[in-house]
Amino acid sequence: MKHNAQWHSATIRAQRDLSPSVREFEIRPERGVRPWSVGSHLDLRVVVDGREEKRSYSLVGLPHAPGDAPGADEVYRIAVRRAEPGRGGSRWLWGLQTGDELLIGEPNNHFEIGWQAPYTLLVAGGIGITPILGMALQLAQRGAPLRMLYAARCTDELIYRDTLQAALGERLCTLCSDAGQRIDLDAEIAALPSGGQLALCGPLSLMDAARAAWQRSGRPAAGLRFETFGNSGQHAAEAFWVELPRHGLRFEVPAGRNLLDMLEEHGVQALSDCRRGECGLCAMDIVQVQGTVDHRDVFFSAAQKQANERLCACVSRVCGGGVVLDSAFRPD
Ligand code: FES
Repeated sequence: MKHNAQWHSATIRAQRDLSPSVREFEIRPERGVRPWSVGSHLDLRVVVDGREEKRSYSLVGLPHAPGDAPGADEVYRIAVRRAEPGRGGSRWLWGLQTGDELLIGEPNNHFEIGWQAPYTLLVAGGIGITPILGMALQLAQRGAPLRMLYAARCTDELIYRDTLQAALGERLCTLCSDAGQRIDLDAEIAALPSGGQLALCGPLSLMDAARAAWQRSGRPAAGLRFETFGNSGQHAAEAFWVELPRHGLRFEVPAGRNLLDMLEEHGVQALSDCRRGECGLCAMDIVQVQGTVDHRDVFFSAAQKQANERLCACVSRVCGGGVVLDSAFRPD
């Protein structure tokens, strides 16, 4: 792999299966662990179909503190769900052995919560537990008022449940969809004291439902904090065609690739930042669609997604055909 200033060498120090579909990795950076805060993610260089790509994973647990077990300050910890079908990054990581080398970036935090809020409601769906776990542990350590809702498909997939149970006790509520249990977001938000915050991470459907419920409640937008992994949509990923008349281009986006990467590969300059459907920088104008746009971002509102006038190129896709797009950029 090619090294550059952004990437640093690291080694897999240990790994363990937390559930049939989630594996935890301890990653030991060659130049030592950098200070990080709860909510941070770590970029990893993965190899997908022979190509190097970047993936972001939340750092799990709490940053090192004095009194921790020896060696606890030497590693970053991430938990990776093997996504089938997925974009291939998790398959590559699951193929790594203890002792293998990889390239990593430095911790970065786009998911800070307010530590002074009078009350915090934490909501985690599936693998969305990874950033929420540290928040729950840190809030509990500080003696801050909180309640946590943790939903998964089945009991086996409630990873870190014992740790959470020990730290939160009655304040933890777990739900399993295979038992027909669902989070009642409207009721939970209604019960939140004034000035309370909601922090959540989970699949797109949970994000959309939470954003809509938060808006219905009339609470200030700043009280809702969320993070998405930007890779789950309403439809399974399939190949689709893209046409850019301004650039005289037409190409296919394969099922395992994203539109933004393909635009860049074809020399189309596109703005981007988060590459997870959160910031909206990569939004492009839709001129015409054949099939259905699978909006996978959390940037546009439900009404904007329905209007289908723009899409986030980093995560959104098309099913059953393709799309004619316009970008503000001129060809090189
Ligand atoms: S780059 Fe942020 S939404 Fe696409």
